[in-house]
Amino acid sequence: MPIISSPTDYREAARRRLPPFLFHYIDGGAYAEHTMRRNQADLADVALRQRVLQNMSALSLETTLFGQTLGMPIALAPVGLTGMYARRGEVQAARAATACNIPFTLSTVSVCDIEEVSDAIDRPIWFQLYVLRDRGFMKNALERAKAAGVRTLVFTVDMPMPGARYRDAHSGMSGPNAAMRRYAQAVLHPRWAWDVGLRGRPHDLGNVSRYRGKPTGLEDYIGWLGANFDPSISWKDLEWIREFWDGPMIIKGVLDPQDARDAVTFGADGIVVSNHGGRQLDGVLSSAQALPAMADAVKGQIAILADSGFRNGLDVVRGLALGADAILLGRAFIYALAAAGEAGVRNVLDLFAKEMRVAMTLTGAKSVTDLDPSFLARLPPS
Ligand code: FNR
Repeated sequence: MPIISSPTDYREAARRRLPPFLFHYIDGGAYAEHTMRRNQADLADVALRQRVLQNMSALSLETTLFGQTLGMPIALAPVGLTGMYARRGEVQAARAATACNIPFTLSTVSVCDIEEVSDAIDRPIWFQLYVLRDRGFMKNALERAKAAGVRTLVFTVDMPMPGARYRDAHSGMSGPNAAMRRYAQAVLHPRWAWDVGLRGRPHDLGNVSRYRGKPTGLEDYIGWLGANFDPSISWKDLEWIREFWDGPMIIKGVLDPQDARDAVTFGADGIVVSNHGGRQLDGVLSSAQALPAMADAVKGQIAILADSGFRNGLDVVRGLALGADAILLGRAFIYALAAAGEAGVRNVLDLFAKEMRVAMTLTGAKSVTDLDPSFLARLPPS
């Protein structure tokens, strides 16, 4: 394992451990990956105001979101197939999140199902739902989530159809002879093959298998996604969910101020400003570029979460100064999970917290809830 001195070191550690089809599935984005690169580059371009001699001996990373007190303004984002990157990966990541007093969001297309993850920890998970053609599946998933104690629903709306990800065809995730190529890669990565490939079974889409009453494996994954995403979706379709779901409902994948205002009108409790980590439409704004106008449109009426490109604690402080209330981590925690399981996720979250404290000390922010645009020296380029 390479030396880990920063969250970004886990990317290389994950690359060494995972078969390439999985590493590139995580690491890649849509088309030429311009937006994916801009997500990180634009955050790095956000300059904070350095302030000194402000007596920064007491700092608070705590915040309140949807009535929950969080240890820091971070949640783990929903990431499909997490149980392929580490053995029963969703459970390991949920345990790490719980230890750090932050929420874990379970993806619709997780390996471990709602019940397996909920039973493993003693705080409610957040559940992410996609809009799917099969409304019976959606209803079943919502009912099971409710029964498992889930209160917070993350509704992802930026995938009316899957984006084109060129790397997947090259890496063996899809494309010709994909199953054979994946098998050959697993043989060449024996640590992963033993730990996850063999001992991490079953490798189902847990929530889908339970609903269909039969295993839905990786071979079916891309096909199932393609057949089930629903481009006809509109705000009207969300109304029955709003009626059914009495807990907080967060709309994920909003990037335009008009859509943010529509989310407020709809009655959402929060939005996630996100381009899906650059995995959907290449060429759209980075989250750092989009955030200021989104904050302006929402005017504090509902919570603003953001993701896409946040790789360290300094980025989180930048995101909060740009107008977010909390940040979702995607690849940042997945690389750590793939490299070192639950301990890796705990460590990466510790590193985030340490970096946030340094950034807060040197910007004069005593609490994360103080952060706002007055802490910025320069916005990302438009
Ligand atoms: C995702 N993302 C995602 N989002 C979602 O709502 N449901 C899902 O199942 C998935 N699956 C998924 C798989 C993988 C491998 C990645 C990398 C991402 C998007 C995710 O929630 C989040 O929006 C992005 O990961 C944020 O960008 P960063 O932090 O990864 O740059």
